[in-house]
Amino acid sequence: MSRPHAAVALAIAAVAAAGVANFALYTLVPLAPWLHALDLVLDLAALAAVVALLVWAGQRFEATEARAREAIAASQARLAAIIDTAMDAIVTVDEAQRIVLFNQAAERVFRCPRAEALGARLDRFIPVRFREAHRVHLERFAASGATGRRMGDGTTLWGLRADGEEFPMEASISRSEEGGRRYCTVILRDITLRKRAEDALRAREAELRELSARVLEARDEEKALLSRELHDELGQLLTALKIDLAALVARLPAGDPAFAEAGARLHALVDRTVTATRRIAANLRPPMLDDLGLADTIGWLVDDFRSHSGLDCSLALPTEGALADVHRDVANTAYRVLQESLTNVARHAQATRAWVVIEDGGDALRLEVEDDGRGIGAADLAQPRSLGLKGMRERVAWVGGRLDIGRAPRGGTRVTVHLPKQPAARAT
Ligand SMILES: Nc1ncnc2c1ncn2[C@@H]1O[C@H](COP(=O)(O)OP(=O)(O)OP(=O)(O)O)[C@@H](O)[C@H]1O
Ligand SMILES: [Mg+2]
Repeated sequence: MSRPHAAVALAIAAVAAAGVANFALYTLVPLAPWLHALDLVLDLAALAAVVALLVWAGQRFEATEARAREAIAASQARLAAIIDTAMDAIVTVDEAQRIVLFNQAAERVFRCPRAEALGARLDRFIPVRFREAHRVHLERFAASGATGRRMGDGTTLWGLRADGEEFPMEASISRSEEGGRRYCTVILRDITLRKRAEDALRAREAELRELSARVLEARDEEKALLSRELHDELGQLLTALKIDLAALVARLPAGDPAFAEAGARLHALVDRTVTATRRIAANLRPPMLDDLGLADTIGWLVDDFRSHSGLDCSLALPTEGALADVHRDVANTAYRVLQESLTNVARHAQATRAWVVIEDGGDALRLEVEDDGRGIGAADLAQPRSLGLKGMRERVAWVGGRLDIGRAPRGGTRVTVHLPKQPAARAT
């Protein structure tokens, strides 16, 4: 028991004892007058003691109450200071959605002095077109059992500054009850700068994607040009060389086996040069893509890979005509991805076998190239100077596809590409 309480209890006990003693004196013993006087003095003394004790207890009580009030005031001041120095704007509204708390950050964000904001409706800080939805949201939240939640469900929220400027924000809301009244507190952050930076970054990414697509396009165009030059210029020169060589060999003195042998050797050399030139020209540009379509061109590419790498390579193609509706850009991407993947198998994999699978999935196609070689690691994928895989990724992203490169279950490398048959609309 606290000391004031003990003192009051003691006083009450003393008065009760005095009462009992009085009663005993009056009823049990016939009293002399001097005893009456003594009784009166004792009663008065007891009464005085009680009054003194009550006054003392009252003072103690008041002192304790004052200390509690001071503590509450100090705690409120601390809370107010915290609220005022918070980086985020804090706004509390009552049941009528009138503002009852508006911290310094809120003054800055909404460009509105606190004196003007207090008592105003929250609506004035919300763009007109969102007011109704916001009011309903707030009422629903106030009536719900929830104590707090993030606002906006992932969409950008908009606030309205006092000068009429709108700004994007992030906000959370919490609910409290005080003296039977409900309050909602919104803590919000102006994300104008972050959004601007994000938008700039997105624009930059789009620019870079555009640029790399242009680079790839330019590379394809250069290859096509080189291929044409090889085919037309070098091809014609070689044909002329072959004709002249035949004429020259025909004029050589007959009967000399050394001449005949040299002539035949030169013929074979020119033939091999013609074949090599054709192959290089064909590799530089997929000439058949337009004429033969994707399926046959892939068949040709895999055949060419088999004969030049010496590796066993299987090819699973969908039934005939299945890939006929693939857009030219997508077909070109599929071709280039397959070409680079097979080149990588021959150059890096140390494989003995490779598997190529194309599947027609209706609106999309899946291309898979797998080998049983040494496999690919994270360091391979991060090589800064290698362009093959990066180019593949860019090409695939450009038409709206998806590329995965990783270890195959058989231990080698597997490249999987999903491509829409029609290229995705590009964000510009
Ligand atoms: N099938 C594979 N098996 C094992 N390693 C591979 C395979 N394909 C690629 N790699 C590794 O990944 C790296 C990156 O390949 P990428 O095609 O990007 O570059 P590159 O072939 O070295 O050069 P280029 O720019 O001429 O294509 C290769 O250097 C190689 O180490
Ligand atoms: Mg490569």
